[in-house]
Amino acid sequence: MTSPLTLFCSFYPVLAVTFVSLVHSETFCRLQNHFEPAFMAQGDFLLGGIFPLHYNQEMPDLNSTYRPPPVNFDPRAFRWALTMILTVDEINQNKELLPNHTLGYKIFDSCAYPLTGQRAALAVLNGVTEEGHGVCSGASPLLAIIGESGSAQSIVVSRILRPFRIPMISYFSSCACFTDRQKYPTFFRVIPNDDYQVKALAQLLVHFNWTWVGLIRGDHEYGRFAVQGLLRELQGTKVCVGDKYFQSFKNSIDALCIYLCHIILSGLVIRTSQAKVVVVFSAEGEMTPFLRDYMEQNITGIQWVASEAWVTASVFSGSVYYPYLGGTIGFGIKTGYIPGLGDFIQRVTPYVYPSNPLMQELWEALYGCAPVSPSDSDLPLCSGDETLLEKHAAYMNTSSPRVAYNVYKAVYAVAHSLHNLFLCQPGAGPFENNSCAQSTNIHPWQLQQYLQEVQFTINGEEVNFDLKGDSIPYYDIINWQRGASGNIEFVPVGLFDGTKAAGQELVIKEDRIVWAGHQMSVCSDSCAPGSRKAVRRGELVCCFDCVPCDSGKISNETDSIECRECPEDFWSNSDRTACIPKEVEFLAYDTVGIVLTVISVVGACLTIAVLVIFFYHRNTPIIRMNNSELSFFILLSLTLCFLCCLVFIGEPTAWSCMLRHTVFSITFSLCISCILGKTLVVLAAFTATRPGNNLMKWLGPKQQRAIIFISTLVQVVICVAWLIDAPPHPFRNMEYERSKIILECSNGSSLAFWCVLGYIGLQAGLCFLLAFLARNLPGNFNEAKVITFSILIFCAVWLAFIPAYISSPGNYADAVESFAILASSFGLLLCLFVPKCYIILLKPEKNTKQHLIGKDKK
Ligand code: TRP
Repeated sequence: MTSPLTLFCSFYPVLAVTFVSLVHSETFCRLQNHFEPAFMAQGDFLLGGIFPLHYNQEMPDLNSTYRPPPVNFDPRAFRWALTMILTVDEINQNKELLPNHTLGYKIFDSCAYPLTGQRAALAVLNGVTEEGHGVCSGASPLLAIIGESGSAQSIVVSRILRPFRIPMISYFSSCACFTDRQKYPTFFRVIPNDDYQVKALAQLLVHFNWTWVGLIRGDHEYGRFAVQGLLRELQGTKVCVGDKYFQSFKNSIDALCIYLCHIILSGLVIRTSQAKVVVVFSAEGEMTPFLRDYMEQNITGIQWVASEAWVTASVFSGSVYYPYLGGTIGFGIKTGYIPGLGDFIQRVTPYVYPSNPLMQELWEALYGCAPVSPSDSDLPLCSGDETLLEKHAAYMNTSSPRVAYNVYKAVYAVAHSLHNLFLCQPGAGPFENNSCAQSTNIHPWQLQQYLQEVQFTINGEEVNFDLKGDSIPYYDIINWQRGASGNIEFVPVGLFDGTKAAGQELVIKEDRIVWAGHQMSVCSDSCAPGSRKAVRRGELVCCFDCVPCDSGKISNETDSIECRECPEDFWSNSDRTACIPKEVEFLAYDTVGIVLTVISVVGACLTIAVLVIFFYHRNTPIIRMNNSELSFFILLSLTLCFLCCLVFIGEPTAWSCMLRHTVFSITFSLCISCILGKTLVVLAAFTATRPGNNLMKWLGPKQQRAIIFISTLVQVVICVAWLIDAPPHPFRNMEYERSKIILECSNGSSLAFWCVLGYIGLQAGLCFLLAFLARNLPGNFNEAKVITFSILIFCAVWLAFIPAYISSPGNYADAVESFAILASSFGLLLCLFVPKCYIILLKPEKNTKQHLIGKDKK
């Protein structure tokens, strides 16, 4: 491929300055180089056109060891150029628009690169030959330029045109950078500003909940500004941009490696279940090598989000791309109808334009054969019935032109402005002193004035430019789906209308979308209910760990940021997803409760049995001698002692709480009082033997009963005072264990509680003291000994009880107290009565008065 035009795409360093130079010795202008336009037609007014008819896949080598890089012919851009020609023809034939004037055009190839674009701009400005009306012969006949495609090229072109104040209308440069009117005063465009596209993209990402996306951009203004804009739009949304890579022309392989290496490194996330969403701001030319390498790696399942630059790139519509690119989604610019475009394109063949080398290239690209011989390529000669190559089939498909439609609108915009300029009424013009432009000598800046204000409709669509030269924001959402023949079809699945109110701009028909694979793209999986997100320090908010909620806290939705504390009476379930009422614990009839009940009932029964035995044998000496009435009292009160243990078991209620300590303390007081009475009697009985010291007459049965009654009454008074002043009541203790409510009896007044216990202690102490004094009195059956012993046991039990009681919580304290009651009752029962029962039942021979007072002859 060394046709003159492809050579045009390779630039030599010397060509960087392509000025017309006046050589001293010569009196005529000489062009530095010949710039053949791709297409040209004369007319009253000339329009320049710049299209990327070729593209480089590698960056041209700028050092002196120059080797022209391979260039590719771009049928898509060729169609845009043809559209310009068609439109100019259409306008020239239109009797209403510019009736007495014709338009001409000069179309140049920018080779899709800023440097070559710069040369195209200079070529447009210059004349074609030295003899023509070039720069040398007066004012530039050029009124406006339709171009360029890529923003990077448009920037260069616009800078070159600026000093000449020639307006340019771009059909594809969407970079947000052009809004700077200071820098690009003559720039207009018929494509929406990328600010709208990134806004739409951000909404799309949020809509599909793609919170972890990769970004790839080409190394140019378009990519830079778009990425910047997208990041700005994503701020404050839940979407994070994971990887940002730019893929520069030259080192696309490196960029790919960084990207792929990353994919492989962060492997688990991306390679396994979660497909990754990658947004690409790039054009098809520079994407081709990148895609080739990507396909070699055989990675699939990535959801590509395409920018408008490549979302309808027919180069990728071949079936080989489907496994890698199928499902791609992105925003495409508005389509429109261009009358006669299909026919016109069909008519343009190398046989009709044999002298145009581009035609030859078109044929080579479309059909893979050379239309005329001799050809520079090694391709075979065309036979005439070749079929379209799959990848170029879309060239012929003119059903929904997008960029071509922009070209159509751009040319019409110039024509309408020019038309308006001619309609100017002298004295009502826009220029100095309300003057109009001279129709014979129109300056491009005068046309600019009209362009700024032009307003017209094409096929019902209104075209105009705002103050910044921008046009109306509207996009179609395009989805890449498999066509009938296995190729990729660009199917519209929704739209973005920037003129609608915020929130209503995006319309997506989700049922029409065909996806690449899975649509999950997240850095971390969402946190299940029962856990909360914990953002990793120094990482993006989309990457987090899930921490289970603490006990007592719950989260009932996915992705909770916090775990909620349960209300007071509630606690978290084991999954930490719901609050459930706290377990209420008390000394119930479970194992401990039942054991206690059984013991107390057994104890009570034993006591009653002893009572029955005693009653039955009440006339035997052992009972008669030992004050039988007091023994019966003791046994009765012991039975009550055993039974009062039952009030401690079961759910505490107002009544059971009040009964607990009062019943217990009164029965115990009664019991100890009886024992005390007995001790006193024993002591008195023995002192009675001494002369003049007859205490016995002071201790008759009446007095004994009085003593018992009074000493029990004291306890009763304390209890009544307690119940009146601060009665014990049920209490839900939540402090001891946070996950449970312990239902216990609060003492109401601990002073009263300790008084009650203290009083029993006092009685027991007194009893012990007296019994201790009487322990050595003679007699085989001296009761003082057993009383001492039993009170000792009683005291031991209750002394041990105090620390155990204080340190155990609610229900356990009750159990401890019950055990103490039972243990001390058993102590008393066993010590006081078992020896007597033994003698009564098993040794009746010892049940004699003699034996008992120790005067037994044996
Ligand atoms: N809208 C893009 C731009 O403004 C379209 C484009 C055309 C492009 N040619 C390109 C983007 C080449 C990147 C590279 O630039």
